[in-house]
Amino acid sequence: MAKIPLILSNLEMTQKLGEILGQRLPAGNVVLLEGDLGTGKTSLIQGLGKGLGISDAIVSPTFTLINEYHDGRVPLYHLDLYRLTPHQVDELYLETYWQGIEVPPGIVAIEWSERLLHRPSSYLFIKLSHQEESRQATLQAVGSDQDLDLEQIPSALNSTSA
Ligand SMILES: Nc1ncnc2c1ncn2[C@@H]1O[C@H](COP(=O)(O)OP(=O)(O)O)[C@@H](O)[C@H]1O
Ligand SMILES: [Mg+2]
Repeated sequence: MAKIPLILSNLEMTQKLGEILGQRLPAGNVVLLEGDLGTGKTSLIQGLGKGLGISDAIVSPTFTLINEYHDGRVPLYHLDLYRLTPHQVDELYLETYWQGIEVPPGIVAIEWSERLLHRPSSYLFIKLSHQEESRQATLQAVGSDQDLDLEQIPSALNSTSA
């Protein structure tokens, strides 16, 4: 489970990283994001929505808990657990989102995922942090059946097209 460190020099790079993931991630994947307020979790997911071809504006679900978007390549389920305790999160049975039984399989992207007690068996972990005026991201494929080649991401990020 190699960790891929990336420097994101500006907002556009944060969104481009999301866009690259949105273009490549198959339905059923879960993206767990951690990082302090303002490190770019929502910004990255806005790019992810763009990569999925979602045209609706992606807004922070801090107060709504979950926003769903169904007009892209696959559905996007965007969750923000900031206002919840781990116990409250546990009672929501978020597993239904990644099991894809009660909802159509899509990409599940979760901000403040450190509040999750029960995680999927495999997921993409993204840790964001402040780095002076920029941000640092660390990507890690956790679990066995990751179908995304993370080694390709740095060159895709630094090329001129996504
Ligand atoms: N790589 C970056 N470098 C500098 N500023 C960034 C970068 N990525 C995002 N930002 C800015 O940081 C803020 C991040 O906000 P947001 O995405 O809402 O963060 P979070 O969801 O983690 O609280 C926004 O003002 C955005 O413009
Ligand atoms: Mg946010």
